[in-house]
Amino acid sequence: MALGIGDIQSLFEQRGEALYGGEAVSQLEHALQAAWLAEQAGDDDATVAACLLHDLGHLLSGQGDDDLARHVDDLHQHKVLPFLRPLLPTAVVQPIALHVEAKRYLCATEPGYRAALSPASALSLALQGGVMSAADAADFLARPHAQAAIRLRRHDDAAKVVGLVTPPLAHYLSRLHRLANP
Ligand SMILES: [Fe+2]
Repeated sequence: MALGIGDIQSLFEQRGEALYGGEAVSQLEHALQAAWLAEQAGDDDATVAACLLHDLGHLLSGQGDDDLARHVDDLHQHKVLPFLRPLLPTAVVQPIALHVEAKRYLCATEPGYRAALSPASALSLALQGGVMSAADAADFLARPHAQAAIRLRRHDDAAKVVGLVTPPLAHYLSRLHRLANP
C-alpha cells in the first residue's frame, strides 16, 4: 500500500492540475505554496514535507472537489496515512493526520481565525465537525506533533495565492528523498 517518491511525483504530475476544492489555485500550486511558505518561515524539513503532502489524499481519491460540492467530508487527512507511513517519519505523517483538527482547534482558540477562512474552508469546517470544544482543544494541544500541525495549517490557509511563483516540485522531492525511511 506504500507510495514511493516516484508515485508521489506521478500523482502531482497527473492529477495536480485539478483545482484545489473550491479555491482558485490548482492542487499542485497549493501544495507547492504551502511548502514554500514553510520553507520561508524556517520550518524544519519534516514540516516542509508535511506541507507539500498534506492534501495528497485529495489526489489519491481524485474526488475532493466533488465531495465538497456534495457536502461530504472526504476524510483525506486519514485516507492518505497508510500510503505515507511506510515511506516517511512520524514527524511528517502526524502533522498531516492532524491538519484538519488544527483548523478546528484554531477556530476555537484564536480570535478572528474562523472569520478569515476562505468560503470553501468555512464550508468544509462544518463538514469536519465544526469548532472544537475547550476540552477537545486542550486534548488536541497535548497530542504529539500538534504544534507542527498548527504551523502546517497556517501555511495551508495562506497557500491560495493566484500566480505566486514557487520553487518547482523537484526541489521538494529532493527533500523527501532526504527524509524517506531507509
Ligand atoms: Fe490544504
